[in-house]
This record gives sequence, C-alpha cells and structure tokens, in this order.
Amino acid sequence: MSLPGRFITFEGIDGAGKTTHIDALEQAWRQQGRDVVRTREPGGTALAEKLRELVLHDSMDPLTEALLVFSARRDHLQQVIRPALTRGAWVLCDRFTDATFAYQGAGRGFELAVLRQLETWVQEGLQPDLTLLFDLPPAVAASRLQAARQPDRFEALDAAFFERVRAGYLDRRSSQPDRFCVIQADASPHQVAEQVRTAIAERGFA
Ligand code: TMP
Repeated sequence: MSLPGRFITFEGIDGAGKTTHIDALEQAWRQQGRDVVRTREPGGTALAEKLRELVLHDSMDPLTEALLVFSARRDHLQQVIRPALTRGAWVLCDRFTDATFAYQGAGRGFELAVLRQLETWVQEGLQPDLTLLFDLPPAVAASRLQAARQPDRFEALDAAFFERVRAGYLDRRSSQPDRFCVIQADASPHQVAEQVRTAIAERGFA
C-alpha cells in the first residue's frame, strides 16, 4: 500500500556533491510550508548513527558490513521514514539501499542475491518514489574530495573501487528506470542545480 508522503533519495559516489543540492531542495520546500524530513544513511536515528560509526571506521568482513547497514536501515525505517511518510511528509534521504548495492555489492563484490533478500525483509516492499543519481567520473569526484576532511573507510578506497560503485549504481538504474533520474554531476554547480530542478519538476515533485 502506498503511503501519503513522498520518499526521495540521493545517490552517487563519494565526492559527487549531493549535499549542496539536498540543502537547496530542503530549504525551498520548507519555505513553501511543506513538512520536510531531511535524513541520511547509514544513520538517521540514535542507534543507526552508532552503527554508522562502526561501518565507516571499523574493519569487518563484507557480510558483517551488509548486515550492519541493513540493521541501521531497519531502525531508520521503523523510527523515522515510515512514520514520516504515513503522516504525509516529504522525506529527503541522503543515500539508501541503492548505496548498498553499489558499495557492498558492486564495490566489495558481495552477493547481490543476498542483498536482494535483505532488501525484501527489511523494507517490506517500501521503495523510494524518486532517486536522483549524481553521476560523474571517479577521477573528478576524487579531486573534489582531496581538500575535504580525513577520509573514512570508503573514501580511502582506490579509483577501481569507485569505478565499480559507479557501474553498480548505473546497473540499479537500468533495472528500475522509472524510479531514477541521472544527474550529470561533473557539470558546474549552477548547471547541476538546473538539472535537479528539471528532474524534480518533470516527475511532478516541484
Ligand atoms: P556519506 O554519508 O558521507 O556519503 O558516507 C557514507 C558512506 O557509507 C559512503 O562512503 C557510502 C557508504 N555506504 C555504504 O557503503 N553502504 C550503504 O548502504 C550506505 C547507505 C552508505
């Protein structure tokens, strides 16, 4: 059964520059008086933020990593996302399950069939209404990240890893084309903002 709210997710490799554009949408929709919930994964609840710290900083095997991101997601769905969608809010979520397929699946090489099973158990049919995929060559993303903070376990990985992650995202897009809009994220910030506005308007989310 579809819920009255709207669930919009933002995806892309590290350094794709999603945050500025999520900020702009959040601000615009709040100014219009919309009930907006801005959140992120892994994270979004006290428990899920603790799991995020483990996933980003402790070494572990790929199954443990996949189970932790789905555990965090389950808590986030139960505590934040489903209640918000049920009351009619617009949920803007910085990363969701497509990131698991891209990072743990394509990037780490973890079995996609297991991830699909976990997705089914944890989400019970709930999927984003719209996913904006910020796509760009890993070399461009890496040059943006160079000036940034101390890298976490993922940001420190090499270009080949991010090529696989990028391809993993594009595979997810090919398997669910109606849900995705691809944003060419190596354009100027102004052009990227324009693409985001157009994508949102075309899908009836303006
Ligand atoms: P970010 O919130 O700063 O983008 O960092 C989150 C990191 O976690 C990012 O490198 C992607 C990674 N990640 C996964 O590996 N699997 C997941 O399911 C999610 C949501 C994120």
